[in-house]
Amino acid sequence: MRELLYFAVYNQLRAGDFALQHFVKLLGSQIFSWEDSVLTITHKGSVVLETERLILRRFTIDDLEPVFNNCWSKSEVWQWTNYKPMKTTEDVVKTAEMFTEEWLGAYSRPNRYSWAIQMKASGDVIGRFFGMHPEDRLKQIELAYEIGPDWWNQGYMTEAVKRVLDYFFREIGFNRVYAYHAHENPASGRVMQKCGMLYEGTMRQACLCNRGIFDKVNYAILAEDYFGRQKMGKDG
Ligand SMILES: CC(C)(COP(=O)(O)OP(=O)(O)OC[C@H]1O[C@@H](n2cnc3c(N)ncnc32)[C@H](O)[C@@H]1OP(=O)(O)O)[C@@H](O)C(=O)NCCC(=O)NCCS
Repeated sequence: MRELLYFAVYNQLRAGDFALQHFVKLLGSQIFSWEDSVLTITHKGSVVLETERLILRRFTIDDLEPVFNNCWSKSEVWQWTNYKPMKTTEDVVKTAEMFTEEWLGAYSRPNRYSWAIQMKASGDVIGRFFGMHPEDRLKQIELAYEIGPDWWNQGYMTEAVKRVLDYFFREIGFNRVYAYHAHENPASGRVMQKCGMLYEGTMRQACLCNRGIFDKVNYAILAEDYFGRQKMGKDG
């Protein structure tokens, strides 16, 4: 009963005042053990998310060709990923093991966060947004993303990251969202900065992507940063 009351109050507050929410959380941690706090994560999976210009939604088998042609087949994109070599859509399935039955079936897991990025206006599927390695105890998740070069530098990924951060902090209850990029790929870091993620340091020669080994530049944002920024009138 005590637990139910606590979580009811906490969830009521989640969308509201962050300071008050933090206070209730502290109070909760005095009453319950550390184990109990993982219950504040409520996985909801890859639900449809909308922004002004984009729809983020689950992949279906029909997306294989468009996402390959628009995004993954481009060396400018592939070089900054860890995807296995893919010269054809067959490679996507057989070598990279995406769009397999198992890969599509992973949507049955409530902690699967893998979205197709689709343009609202044209319907084009232009890339992928991936929330990787969700960890309930730490309440953290990692971001990875890519879109086709035809759509670069028009603010699309910033728009998508902002929407996903809002979902992760407000609706799932993550406390920390992190991402990294190769030092030689500053556009990705710029997206992180524009979304309010904070630089946490560079690890020398720790980033392995298809183009090679690079210095790994780390960024993260905490729930308190996110809600704090919103209170100060800056968007996510
Ligand atoms: C990284 C990537 C997702 C960015 O997507 P996007 O939709 O172009 O991003 P946005 O338009 O929202 O923002 C890009 C920002 O990077 C900046 N940028 C672009 N090239 C840059 C460069 N060489 N150096 C510094 N900044 C650069 C843009 O000017 C823009 O910043 P601004 O709005 O302040 O001008 C896209 O380039 C991509 O898919 N790249 C290949 C895959 C990849 O790198 N994924 C990330 C792996 S960590």
